[in-house]
Amino acid sequence: MQPLELFVLTDTHYYSKKNWVDGDPYAFPPAREQLYRLGSEEILRKVFDELCAPGAPEIVLISGDLTNNGEVTSHEEIREMLRELEQRGKRVFVTTATHDYRGEGVSYGFDKNNNRVDVPAFLRDDLRDFWREFGMSKAISVHEPTMCYAAELTPEYLLLALNDDRGYDHAGFTAECFEWICEQAEQAKKKGQFIIAMTHHPVLSPSPLYKLIAPGDLLEEGETRAKQFADMGVPVMFTGHSHIHNITRIDSEAGNPFYDVSTSATVGFPPNYRRVRFDPDGGTIDIKTISVENVPGLDLGGLTLPQFTEKQFLGVVTDILDAADKDYETFIRLANSFSLREPKARKLKPVIHPAAGWLNRLTFGKVWKWTRRSNGVSKEEMKPQWDRLVVPFAVKLAANLYRGDADLPKDGVEYRVASALFQKLDRLSKPFADKLKAKGIESISAILLPLLHNDGISDADYTIRL
Ligand SMILES: [Fe+2]
Ligand SMILES: [Fe+2]
Repeated sequence: MQPLELFVLTDTHYYSKKNWVDGDPYAFPPAREQLYRLGSEEILRKVFDELCAPGAPEIVLISGDLTNNGEVTSHEEIREMLRELEQRGKRVFVTTATHDYRGEGVSYGFDKNNNRVDVPAFLRDDLRDFWREFGMSKAISVHEPTMCYAAELTPEYLLLALNDDRGYDHAGFTAECFEWICEQAEQAKKKGQFIIAMTHHPVLSPSPLYKLIAPGDLLEEGETRAKQFADMGVPVMFTGHSHIHNITRIDSEAGNPFYDVSTSATVGFPPNYRRVRFDPDGGTIDIKTISVENVPGLDLGGLTLPQFTEKQFLGVVTDILDAADKDYETFIRLANSFSLREPKARKLKPVIHPAAGWLNRLTFGKVWKWTRRSNGVSKEEMKPQWDRLVVPFAVKLAANLYRGDADLPKDGVEYRVASALFQKLDRLSKPFADKLKAKGIESISAILLPLLHNDGISDADYTIRL
């Protein structure tokens, strides 16, 4: 079997400039969310140029959330850009997701005075024919109701482009759709084809924290599905949606591994896409991350795109913590962009509001005092950091969640003090241990330690051994 190389992109969240004139797209909540609405066109043009470099793979996969919020103008423009990409020799396969339509057919733009104005958006059913040329029309089989399709990338490789979109608070495959998936896998096996698969929502949680704050954003019965995929000969699923750059593995009872390879949003933080090389005969799948560094025509104030989007991201988290402390209504609005929905945010006010106030005033010195018996850090070592506020550090940890591959040195003061604090929280949270376990979470440490240091599979570059 010939090796096959391809590009994986997701969550391009293209936002047409026709939707805003002189106004500021960030003036509308959720303000300054992760999506870089202002520059999505410039960023994607740059990325598409990179995809056309000499010797680059021909196949490009995009697994949903093509547009900001389903605006007709955004769809028309990004489809035109993808047509140009195909004219330059690429073969593009896409699936759509919940950001590609609005139930009411209306999204938002901004007028000259920065007021929100309604702009037309697609309904879900509009997507089927509009996007057919970038997948379904190249397929050997289509599951029309869900828009899932199977396409032969070469005679030896089958793409399962799965559409798990079942509305705004539900993701997964119906029994009938899953049957179609199994059939495709069965056929591929008979033909001796290797299966490559993508879907939008995480099959496996990209982090224990994500499972806690956004269980509804995970694919329904994800772990069960993952093991079923492993056993049907689908070792890797390329996913998006969480905007977290991550690779997670699970093994089926029969001992077959499954990897959820989640890629961050091309226009978010971190602005990444992946290049992947399949070599089934050599027994490897080699996954590389490409970071979008510089974007012509975009004013980033002298920063690279990763620096710029990180700064914006850190600003968002700081704003959120600040709002949770001082203006809870604003917090509720902002938290939505982090998958914490309004009813839950309201219900959690008695916990979040005081916790945020306390956290905003917390210093490293205080944390050291609480954990002095277990942190192994001397007073001398601690001295230079005594009055340092914890919040900017905590915000950096939130950034680590999205960037992946957290690498705080384990012998450093920060790591030792923070991990001692997490252990203390484990002891304090013992009365709630059963509740956490019911959500599939071992402990507070299990949630937070990966934000300090990634001991598992590298999230950026990794070679899977088949
Ligand atoms: Fe997205
Ligand atoms: Fe999404």
